[in-house]
Amino acid sequence: MNQGIKLDSITIELVLEILGEQVLKVTGKELTEAEKVVIRGAWDGKDYSEIAHTSGHGMYYLQQKVGPPLWTMLSTVVGNGVKVKKANLRDILLKVVKKDYFKKLEVTCQDNDSLVGRTKIHGELPEIEHFYGRDEEINSLKNQIKLFKQRCISITGVGGIGKSLLAVKIVEEILFENQDLYDYVIWKKIERFSTIHDVVTELIKIFNLGENENNFKVKLSLLFKELAFRRCLLILDGFENLLQTGLVERKIEFDNFFDTITKEQYLSCTIITSQVPLKEFVYTTINLPILHLKLQGLELNAAIEMLHEKGLKGEECKELIETYRGNPSELEVVANKINRYFGGSIQKFFEYKTTVMGSQFQLMLHLQFGNPGFLSQLQRQILIYLAEQIAEDPTPVPFSMLIKYLKEQLKEVSVSKVMTEMEILEQRSLVETSNGISKQEISYGLQPVVKKYILIDPLGLVYKTCKRTQLTNYVEAG
Ligand SMILES: Nc1ncnc2c1ncn2[C@@H]1O[C@H](COP(=O)(O)OP(=O)(O)OP(=O)(O)O)[C@@H](O)[C@H]1O
Ligand SMILES: [Mg+2]
Repeated sequence: MNQGIKLDSITIELVLEILGEQVLKVTGKELTEAEKVVIRGAWDGKDYSEIAHTSGHGMYYLQQKVGPPLWTMLSTVVGNGVKVKKANLRDILLKVVKKDYFKKLEVTCQDNDSLVGRTKIHGELPEIEHFYGRDEEINSLKNQIKLFKQRCISITGVGGIGKSLLAVKIVEEILFENQDLYDYVIWKKIERFSTIHDVVTELIKIFNLGENENNFKVKLSLLFKELAFRRCLLILDGFENLLQTGLVERKIEFDNFFDTITKEQYLSCTIITSQVPLKEFVYTTINLPILHLKLQGLELNAAIEMLHEKGLKGEECKELIETYRGNPSELEVVANKINRYFGGSIQKFFEYKTTVMGSQFQLMLHLQFGNPGFLSQLQRQILIYLAEQIAEDPTPVPFSMLIKYLKEQLKEVSVSKVMTEMEILEQRSLVETSNGISKQEISYGLQPVVKKYILIDPLGLVYKTCKRTQLTNYVEAG
């Protein structure tokens, strides 16, 4: 059982134990008694004379002989690019303990039904190898959950933007700060072509309920009772996999589902990650008490740090980040290609004027353009037009130009319908908007990866629809 750590209960002895292990691993040496004395003193904010006074060592010895080589060694072992000094030691060591806790937690959470403190973890949380940035999102969501008792949060964004990883990070941070806040953490990965019925059935099965129950509403009431009287942190990862177009009954079921998981008296919180905004699932536009976060690319500094770690340097990093809109999975793929083919030179890569497409982003586009896909015929037509137009002239396409084109192509065009379709495309981050020089009329553009996908049409899904089996096979393989 992983015992977890409470932030206010971190002692210097625990810190020294974790730090000692890391120092030994990197340098092959144990921390000496004198080094421990200096670290203990710095942790308590003491100056060298106080440390000397209480430890029995001479001040000159600690300050001149022990301190300087210790800071140099610690900078290498735990500095992560930052110079370790007496003044910043406490902050750095807290980060070291936190990181060590997360690593051990991830190992624990690989087993189904593991225990962290008194919290039962159900399901396998994805492992985090590296994590950059997102401090603002993490702090804000953590506050929403812990302080404001938010009952449902949706994290939406394109494939590979980091929705699942952000959800894992929030779980880890919450467990780190208080491992007894929840009775259950349930990580439910949603499989493609499953239904909301399947999800609810599986959830109540976790609580050993509803084995012979077939009625959806009864199942929902069972789920309601569990979420109301237990403290659960429920993560539904990949909610877009439940989207099936055209079924009104299904939409009513989603209404009922959201109504159930957002009831006021809850002690529980549900986090949903989805490529498609939740309002596309529901039939009525009921005012759901859900907090929506649309996840954008990594902030510039975090993305630069990520590229630096991969060995890419220089001003061109910024252009690379802009091209891939800070999407971490895309940046990872392109950085690996640049290292492999161009010896790490972004400049050389740019000379070829090519765009790399990562598999996670492509998979999202396959799901959008597939058959059955998430795009309507009109949305598909609009995207193709934008891609072809932008390939000829990169300036964003004004709304009036788009309407003119559609009027030429189709017998009847409802402008309000086009507006609705454009809003959906925008919310799914498939088109980008700008208000142009005139600042009056909206114009549309595409990010380079989306444009490339449409123009090269890798699976033949864009220009002509394919059979469902083809997509299923791809999803299973991908
Ligand atoms: N904050 C981050 N720091 C470092 N790498 C990240 C970060 N976020 C995401 N990544 C990288 O991008 C990959 C994709 O992230 P993730 O699986 O969370 O995306 P997603 O938005 O859930 O995508 P999908 O919609 O396909 O499920 C991760 O495996 C990781 O390599
Ligand atoms: Mg995901």
